[in-house]
Amino acid sequence: MNDHPSSSSQTPRVNPLWGGRFSAGPAQAMEQINASIDFDKRLYAQDIAGSKAHCAMLVAKEIISRQDGEAISSGLDAIQREIENGTFVFEHALEDIHMNIESRLAERIGDAAGRLHTARSRNDQVATDLRLWLRDAIDSIDASTKDLQRSLLARAEDHVATVMPGFTHLQVAQPVTFGHHIMAYVEMFGRDRERFADCRKRVNVSPLGAGALAGTSFPIDRAMTAKELGFSSACANSMDGVSDRDFVVEFLSGAAICISHMARLAEEIVLWSSDQFGFVSLAEEFTTGSSIMPQKRNPDGAELVRGKSGRVIGALVSLFVAMKALPLTYAKDMQEDKEPLFDSVDSLSLCIQVVTGMIESMTINTDRMAAAAEAGYSTATDLADWLVRSLGLPFREAHGIVGRVVRLAEERGCSLADLPLDDVRQIEPRLSSAAFDVLRVEDAVASRTSFGGTAPERVREAIAAARARYL
Ligand code: ARG
Repeated sequence: MNDHPSSSSQTPRVNPLWGGRFSAGPAQAMEQINASIDFDKRLYAQDIAGSKAHCAMLVAKEIISRQDGEAISSGLDAIQREIENGTFVFEHALEDIHMNIESRLAERIGDAAGRLHTARSRNDQVATDLRLWLRDAIDSIDASTKDLQRSLLARAEDHVATVMPGFTHLQVAQPVTFGHHIMAYVEMFGRDRERFADCRKRVNVSPLGAGALAGTSFPIDRAMTAKELGFSSACANSMDGVSDRDFVVEFLSGAAICISHMARLAEEIVLWSSDQFGFVSLAEEFTTGSSIMPQKRNPDGAELVRGKSGRVIGALVSLFVAMKALPLTYAKDMQEDKEPLFDSVDSLSLCIQVVTGMIESMTINTDRMAAAAEAGYSTATDLADWLVRSLGLPFREAHGIVGRVVRLAEERGCSLADLPLDDVRQIEPRLSSAAFDVLRVEDAVASRTSFGGTAPERVREAIAAARARYL
């Protein structure tokens, strides 16, 4: 009878890279929970770049021979080609990308491979790889967010004077222009890009050479590897270097904010494309049909962007919880940083593309927007402002008068402009026909010339300023 049912005859073999003091391999479940290769293989190019930089430094500092260094470096290049042409065999027993590559290097070049890990640990190695990977991801997200801003700016420019209702509480509030509404998102995505750019500064610091946690007794040159890998500097504390994942948490919080902005825009697109609003028609490429209702065209792209925001916010929470209260320095909990990060970068990148596509291809139904802007007494504030400006009334009093005018229009079932002047004068005898001039939505919009306001001339300026700032 076997006392340990988990250690069957199929038990995986001992890992050759660290198995010296072991007599038995891990349990099946242990191998499964331990292996990260299925997801961290995405770090292969960064891992090889980090190893080559480390190797060149070891040679320069005469820690390994030039000959071994050259064998290692060209062996790593060959492995990169194997991975890229699909012939590399990834093994669970070798746990992660670092050991898969090192083991293959030993197969290819023999004993010299064993010298690569001098003055290095997987702890500084994985932190280096992840920082390099995230730096590229940030650059690519920045470029596509910029494209999204460019598309929004183009649509805003075409619609600086297209009137639509502005909402508060999703109730018609005051008329605005579609261009102004779209420019609100250009600002949001501008802040998102600033957050990512700021985060990138803290990502771009090299932990390589921190070793397992304490540094090393070999005469390494951390500034040299940092420079070679394009980092701005080497991190100042080896213990911090191997245990810091703030840079991922920080990126994920920026990603969560960015995708929530996209989800707000997606939600507006869902509303706007409904029959009830009819403000926009989505292009067929970004809609789907129903398997039962032949007439349907559903805004699934927008809904999925809205839905995927949950994953990214969840990724932030999951890594935050994993990192909270971890004692220094490295612990395997930190291997759980990668999947949320990779998934968030993938989700965010895809959502940016989909939102950009929807914005570029949707039709703007200006008539429906204009009609909706007329509804809901959207220029009531303008009438109150007229009373303040022309009659010198305190705003509160003007508000009360216009409230009674709106109630009268509601009772009559007509718009403010259609109320007979005599009836309005019963409420406030000083109201003249000039007051009714301000009720046109185009005039209401044109009058809001304050900085950041919706007047077309201001929106034009805002577009020019945003182009200069963001593109
Ligand atoms: N696969 C590991 C990770 O992603 C690499 C570092 C392993 N370090 C260790 N001491 N076991 O975190």
